[in-house]
Amino acid sequence: MSRLILVVLCILCVDIAAAQTPIDKGRYLATAADCVACHTAVNGRPMTGGRPFHTPFGKLYSTNITPDKKTGIGNYTLEDFTASMRRGMGMHGNLYPAMPYTSYYRISDEDIAALYAYFMQLPAVEYVAPENDLIFPANLRFGLKAWNWVFFDRQPLQQEAGKSPDWQRGNYLVNALGHCGECHTPRNFAYALKRDTPLAGNVLEGWDAVDIRPQALRRQGWDRASLRTLFRTGVSEQGAAFGEMFSVVKHSLRHLSDSDLDAMITYLLDDDETANETLAQTIGDPQGAAEQYPQGRADYVAYCAGCHGREGTGITLAFAPPMHRNAGVRGENPYNTIAVVLRGLPVQRMSRTNARAGMPSFAKELNNARIAGVVNFMRTAWGASGTAVTEDQIANIREDLREHGFLGEHQ
Ligand code: HEC
Ligand code: HEC
Ligand code: HEC
Repeated sequence: MSRLILVVLCILCVDIAAAQTPIDKGRYLATAADCVACHTAVNGRPMTGGRPFHTPFGKLYSTNITPDKKTGIGNYTLEDFTASMRRGMGMHGNLYPAMPYTSYYRISDEDIAALYAYFMQLPAVEYVAPENDLIFPANLRFGLKAWNWVFFDRQPLQQEAGKSPDWQRGNYLVNALGHCGECHTPRNFAYALKRDTPLAGNVLEGWDAVDIRPQALRRQGWDRASLRTLFRTGVSEQGAAFGEMFSVVKHSLRHLSDSDLDAMITYLLDDDETANETLAQTIGDPQGAAEQYPQGRADYVAYCAGCHGREGTGITLAFAPPMHRNAGVRGENPYNTIAVVLRGLPVQRMSRTNARAGMPSFAKELNNARIAGVVNFMRTAWGASGTAVTEDQIANIREDLREHGFLGEHQ
């Protein structure tokens, strides 16, 4: 009897895949793995490469992965393609781990073959990415052999016992195809992922790719419904996707099938139930916060309330996210709340007809003490956070952002 149920379940699982040609399947997998985000330059043709990556060792460019024989991957056999996806072995030597083979090595043989079939039938485009600009010795590709030897331990995907097929599928989507850990897992001095703290959060390009382990997500008030809304639309009652996360939603997550998105959420929340659909209640102490941080409250009303609502409840979600349930405001680490106030957020375009309004930068209007006041007011009013941020903390983040060019005029 239980075997019968299992068979029926499996038929349901492969149903979508079975209805597709290998090329359709490859296209879907390329979306789930978000190849286009990295292999497309601003205003460039899709998959032709040329997008710069700023690493601690200099600037690196993604390459052309259309099947052009001269400048792309037209001469790759399935074995060559597999070597670059699994082992970071390109045709011209070792690849830098900005190409996330450190996650993709977990992709199944079958899925790699479907990806290969898809890429090989794309229109071939002749294009050569700019030369890399890396410092010695990072500019020597053979050094990467040693890097791989020391840092690239290819542990197979943990197939934890007792978890549902949905959870296992989510594990594969998050840790293989979706390569979420490439941004969300802390890195060591040599830029390698710290295997003992997967998905524990990491600052990159001046944003905190936050802790997305189950306890952190739940504590911040994420539930199945709000994560689904975030991943489908880029914004939810708990907050909006910004920085690199916006691109992940735009190019990848919002295009996933309902069942894959649900599986991913089951894994992220470590939650095999679907019943839990209510948004977490407001927490914190608005009255106490106003008494403790009167200047912070006054600045919130003067500078922020026009868009985020006087009581933090927002005006309309389509315009700006509310603050009284904001995951960042509730989070242990105040980095993104501070960085958003300093940097502001650019207008983001999800599609031709759907854009998200931006937010101005307050780096000039508000000094470090006043920003600390606003942030402390919000975290006490709506975050129930015990730890106050200090003026020094704001000063350090401001300096770091300025040094890396994130407080420029473009904001
Ligand atoms: C996070 C960014 C990122 C993502 C996502 C990404 N790539 Fe890459 N990829 C790169 C970079 C950067 C390079 C160039 C590395 C180098 O030159 O050492 C590269 C190189 C490659 C190469 C080697 C090409 C050559 O010239 O030899 C192949 C093949 C490739 N990627 C395929 C893919 C496929 C297929 C996907 C999606 C399944 C993908 N990449 C997703 C960043 C990325
Ligand atoms: C002109 C309208 C406007 C003003 C004024 C404004 N914001 Fe925003 N804010 C936005 C919008 C719009 C977004 C979401 C942008 C997006 O979706 O990419 C946002 C996002 C945020 C976020 C990130 C929310 C998340 O999704 O996690 C924080 C934190 C924030 N604002 C705090 C503030 C604070 C503090 C102030 C006052 C110092 C302020 N905002 C003033 C419009 C505004
Ligand atoms: C290219 C880097 C990058 C990748 C890849 C990435 N993220 Fe993120 N993610 C970020 C950054 C930066 C933030 C913080 C900004 C924000 O909150 O939107 C973030 C925030 C989040 C948040 C919190 C959103 C919020 O509003 O508080 C969730 C949940 C999340 N990511 C899930 C994922 C999942 C699941 C994947 C893999 C499918 C993934 N991320 C892949 C960079 C990334």
